Amino acid sequence: MKKNKVTKIGVMTSGGDSPGMNAAIRAVVRTGIYNGLEVFGIMRGYSGLIENDIIPMDSRSVANIIQRGGTILKTARSKAFTTPEGRKAAYNNLNQHGIDGLVIIGGDGSFKGAQTFSNEYDIPCIGLPGTIDKDIAGTDVTIGFDTAVNTAVEAIDKIRDTMDAHDRLFIVEVMGRDAGYIALHSGIATGAENIVIPETKTDIDELICSLTEKEKRKKLVNLIVVAEGGEYGDANALDAIIKERIPSADTRVCILGHIQRGGSPSCADRLIASHMGYYAVESLLIGRHNVMVGVVNNKIHYTPLDKAVKEKQKIGQEWMKIVKILAS
Ligand code: F6P
Repeated sequence: MKKNKVTKIGVMTSGGDSPGMNAAIRAVVRTGIYNGLEVFGIMRGYSGLIENDIIPMDSRSVANIIQRGGTILKTARSKAFTTPEGRKAAYNNLNQHGIDGLVIIGGDGSFKGAQTFSNEYDIPCIGLPGTIDKDIAGTDVTIGFDTAVNTAVEAIDKIRDTMDAHDRLFIVEVMGRDAGYIALHSGIATGAENIVIPETKTDIDELICSLTEKEKRKKLVNLIVVAEGGEYGDANALDAIIKERIPSADTRVCILGHIQRGGSPSCADRLIASHMGYYAVESLLIGRHNVMVGVVNNKIHYTPLDKAVKEKQKIGQEWMKIVKILAS
C-alpha cells in the first residue's frame, strides 16, 4: 500500500456497459465530494482520457441516475490506450487537470490497461467490476449481472408461453462471451430442459436421444438455453446439429442479444454498485494502489488488478444434475 495524498480523482466507465454503472459513478462522485475531493468524469473510458474529454462533476451531475441503465460517462474499448503514445497522452491530460487517482468501472481488459498505466506513471488506480458476464476473478458479484440475468428470465418466460402453445423446440441464446453464468442462472430460473455452457461438457448424443424420444411421442416441447460461447458454437450452430439429426423437428432460435445489457438496474445491482463505489474512494484515500474492489462471501474484498483477470469460474457438476432432475 502506498501513502498518497489524493486530492483530485477521475472516474470512467470502460468496455461493454452494464446496468448499475451509473449507480457506481454516483457513489464515487458523492463519496469523493463528501471527503473534500475534486471529482472529474472521464468520457468514453480511455478514449476520452487520451482525447482530454474530461469534465468536472459535482453532486448534482449525478442526480437522478441511480435508476438508469447505460452510463452517463459513455464507454468505449480503446485501441490507442494499448500503445505507449496513447498512455503518454492520457498521462499528460491527467497532469493538466491535476488528477492524482483513478476509478475505472469495467471488465478485465480495462483493468489490464489500468495496471500497465499505473506501472508506467505511478497513478493509483482502483477497479470496480462492471460486466454482465460475471467472469472476473476476485469477486462473487459484478455490477450488472443480476439485472442482465433477470432481463433474460423475463424474455425466456415469454418465449416459453409461445413455445408451449405450439409444441415447439426453442433454442435461446444469451450473452456472456465465453462465460456461461447468464445461461446457467436464467436456464435454471426458467425451468429449461437443457443448458449448454462452455464450463461443462454437454453430451450431444444424450441430448439428441432425449429430443428424439419426445419427437416420437409428438411432444417435442423443449427449451434449450445456450451461452453464446457454448461448446457447439452459438444457438444457430446448435440448431443446425439438431436439424441434421432430427430433420422433422420444428425448431426456433431466439438470440436475446443486447437487451441484456440495457434497462434499469435491479435493486441488487444498485446496492453492489453503491457499496463498491464508496469503497473505491475509501481505497484511494487510504493509499490503496491498483486493486479491484470486489465482494467475496458478502464482504468487501480487494484483489490486485493484475489478478482480477477474466476467469472461468467453476460451475459445479451438481448444478447440471439438478437441472436434469428438475426438468424431467
Ligand atoms: O462483455 C459483455 C458483452 O455483452 C458480452 O456478453 C458480449 O459477448 C459482448 O459484450 C458484446 O460486445 P459488443 O457490445 O461489442 O457487441
